[in-house]
Amino acid sequence: MSSDFYKKILDNNKNWVESQLAIDKEYFKDLAKGQQPPLLWIGCSDSRVPANEIIGAKPGEVFVHRNIANMVIHSDMNMLSVLDYAVNVLKVKHVIVCGHYGCGGVKAAMGNQSIGLIDNWIRHIKDVYRLHEEYLNSFTDEDERFNKFVEVNVQEQVFDLAKTSIVQGAWRNGQDLTLHGWTYGLNSGYVTDLDVNMSSNGDLDEVYRLKFSN
Ligand code: CO
Repeated sequence: MSSDFYKKILDNNKNWVESQLAIDKEYFKDLAKGQQPPLLWIGCSDSRVPANEIIGAKPGEVFVHRNIANMVIHSDMNMLSVLDYAVNVLKVKHVIVCGHYGCGGVKAAMGNQSIGLIDNWIRHIKDVYRLHEEYLNSFTDEDERFNKFVEVNVQEQVFDLAKTSIVQGAWRNGQDLTLHGWTYGLNSGYVTDLDVNMSSNGDLDEVYRLKFSN
């Protein structure tokens, strides 16, 4: 990061504060009172997929979790903590898993090159490949297979959200909560709803459906 860039982002912040206050003197005082976002966004860390900007969400409207390749890994305490807080405290009504075409994490999972520690994170994406191997291998064009892999990865992450005790507990309690899977086109700016919307555990394989005793 050049020192010019570093100075510029500090200046940008001052300018942003001033422009917000010019519109509404109470803007930050009001935001500081609390948050009740209707949406949890689980996206990729990729710098080109900024959650708020692409959906036109203002501060206070979207709770955000991002990691490499927008993964929902059931032993990831960071993801589980964000999900639990969003669902049980903030009572979000929607959770969107947003993948994106051209995702470096998904691309790495298609290949065999070792990159380092991250290989262990990418392993989870390889598991998705194995699960959908027949479907994915049916695409002979590599770019097309890559795009389809991005899509089935999002779909599996939505299922993995639905498998959590947190989401199934909320549904059991009658909470209004819908999961969605999207992809984002880096070269178009548009998102696509992959139509994997879930608002009950009925679409999960039987073995994943939790029964609650109280
Ligand atoms: Co990515």
